Amino acid sequence: MKLPIIAAMLAAAAFVTTGASAQDVAAGERSWNKCRACHQLGEGAKNLVGPQLNGLFGRHTGEVEGYSYSTANKGAGITWDEAVFAEYIKDPKAKIPGTKMIFAGIKNEKEIADLTAFLKQFGKDGKKM
Ligand code: HEC
Repeated sequence: MKLPIIAAMLAAAAFVTTGASAQDVAAGERSWNKCRACHQLGEGAKNLVGPQLNGLFGRHTGEVEGYSYSTANKGAGITWDEAVFAEYIKDPKAKIPGTKMIFAGIKNEKEIADLTAFLKQFGKDGKKM
């Protein structure tokens, strides 16, 4: 009796997970609009006011060639992962004092998760993974 119930629950969970992540990326893309004035993503992305953000997760702070970082950002000694990024994007100046990124921050955890899902799609070469 119990097995079919568990199977049904697993199926439902899988459905919810895939449904939610598709939506998250779309919401993340809307959130990305807050960054686009200063950052580019994708193939051929250039450094603007801020560095291009391809393959961000796994990158070290200050790693993008040809971008002139502040000493604060360059010397922050951070490897970008989800946890560090979440902390940073809530309040960039608090995480990296002296950063020249002028951005108030995103406080909403769901929005940060969506934005993270969106950013994670782009590999170092700017192609979607
Ligand atoms: C007004 C311009 C501006 C906006 C808007 C902005 N940034 Fe930035 N960002 C910068 C600048 C400038 C830097 C370089 C900071 C430094 O060198 O001190 C930077 C640096 C970063 C870094 C560190 C990159 C590295 O290689 O170490 C990340 C990550 C980042 N921004 C993410 C974002 C995200 C995500 C958003 C949108 C939610 C955003 N930024 C919005 C200007 C901006």
